[in-house]
Amino acid sequence: MIDALTRHELLNWLNQIIGYSEMLIEEADGSGQENLIGDLGKITCAAQQMLVQLQTPLTCSPSCHSAINTNDSHKQTASPDQVAHHFNPVDTECNGRGSLLVVDDNPANQEILSRRLENQGYQIAMAGSGVEALEKLTSNRFDLVLLDVMMPDMGGYEVLQRMKADTVLRNIPVIMISACSDMGQVILCIEAGAEDYLPKPFNSTLLKARISATLEKKRLCEQERRYASQAMQTEAALERHRALTQAVAGVAHEINTPLGIVKTGLSIIRNRLSLPNIQALFRENSETEALLQDMLESSGLTIKNVDIAHRLIENFKKIAVDQLLEHQDTVDLPALLKDTVDLFKISARQARLDIRLDASGILKAREWHGYPGYLTQIMMNFLQNIERYAYPNGIGGQVDIAVSDRVLPAKAPQFVLTVRDYGAGINPEHIGKIFDPFFTTGRGKGGTGLGLAIVNNMVTVAMQGAVSVESEPGFGTCFTLCFPKNLT
Ligand SMILES: Nc1ncnc2c1ncn2[C@@H]1O[C@H](COP(=O)(O)OP(=O)(O)OP(=O)(O)O)[C@@H](O)[C@H]1O
Ligand SMILES: [Mg+2]
Repeated sequence: MIDALTRHELLNWLNQIIGYSEMLIEEADGSGQENLIGDLGKITCAAQQMLVQLQTPLTCSPSCHSAINTNDSHKQTASPDQVAHHFNPVDTECNGRGSLLVVDDNPANQEILSRRLENQGYQIAMAGSGVEALEKLTSNRFDLVLLDVMMPDMGGYEVLQRMKADTVLRNIPVIMISACSDMGQVILCIEAGAEDYLPKPFNSTLLKARISATLEKKRLCEQERRYASQAMQTEAALERHRALTQAVAGVAHEINTPLGIVKTGLSIIRNRLSLPNIQALFRENSETEALLQDMLESSGLTIKNVDIAHRLIENFKKIAVDQLLEHQDTVDLPALLKDTVDLFKISARQARLDIRLDASGILKAREWHGYPGYLTQIMMNFLQNIERYAYPNGIGGQVDIAVSDRVLPAKAPQFVLTVRDYGAGINPEHIGKIFDPFFTTGRGKGGTGLGLAIVNNMVTVAMQGAVSVESEPGFGTCFTLCFPKNLT
């Protein structure tokens, strides 16, 4: 009859014999020394048989704090072949990288675990006590903790509780290492939030499987959290954008009405002041004549600025892209583009733009069911920008507009429209901002920075498409629109 303490000691030594011989089998297999595997397997088998003998009958005194194996899976005796099979290094199921903290007060257990896990490609740090574990956890980043249940001073259960009470550490998965027959502790730990448990001595297949499953679960949880937070951020940004554009459009609409009245009033004053009989009254002496001159100039200047404000406000209104104000229609897309280029003819002549239109890329239907009004505005914005920024000061240049169709598997047929110039190009520092409302490099030339923000809204909101840009300073710019041939 062996007392509990001796049994405990013996089990500890057996754990080490099994652990080291299993590792040697792995290494022998990996280094081409297969001749050693058979004998090493016999050592492992013998040790496991001894383990079974020691485990019957087994009860663990509450004071035990080290390796006493009771797990049924270890009661089985494995043949050397089976043992060798378990440690076949070709099995790369658990090849994932991760940083693991092994917490065990028994240095031999620490070494066996860390060597084995390092062989599997993990980065390993070790802690010999609960206190050391908590210190390492707060100063380093780990993907997983392997935590011994029974340790002197601070046991695994207490370490786990402290981790779960910490807002950062609570997200690190913990696998309990249990060497004791008292499953009560393990159950407590699982209830307190441990992911899983591993019995000692470690079965390599189980070790691999539980660690990789836990790491995979952690990865999926993190991915899910990331996706959820990205989706929330995108939704919040879209909501802010919608609210802002609606507010801008609403305010613009409200301002436009009194502005119209101001403009009408000023025009009446100016027209009256221009009447010959009124002018004659003012010309009676030089003082009143100067007064008339001042009033005519001021009213002229004010009307001009009211006009500018009116144009700006019209742009602000467009930013909200109110589809209800536009009508959908089915049109021949190349014909619509040609009409748009014709609309721009006078400006193009002044700016010396040579605009070419190529619709030969459309191999199937030329009809587009969408918002023709919006596409005309979009093309106008592109052409005005080319006139103002690509070929400024009337230097002129070529503009290529090309349209083709694209059929992608499982997607509705699309048109792809490109507008390309070979002018100044866009500074790489600016390219990420050009679709932002109010971004402009042409403040002095009357630019408000709303043109491309409106284009972006029209394409994405109304036309259900996407717009992108490519540019190289000195070589030109190309805007690409993709949009469905038929709006849903
Ligand atoms: N074809 C182009 N070549 C070079 N730069 C361009 C071109 N198109 C746009 N840009 C750049 O993108 C910026 C934003 O264009 P956007 O049309 O939004 O505003 P804007 O033309 O400056 O003002 P608005 O259109 O409101 O009158 C421009 O200020 C310019 O710097
Ligand atoms: Mg513009």
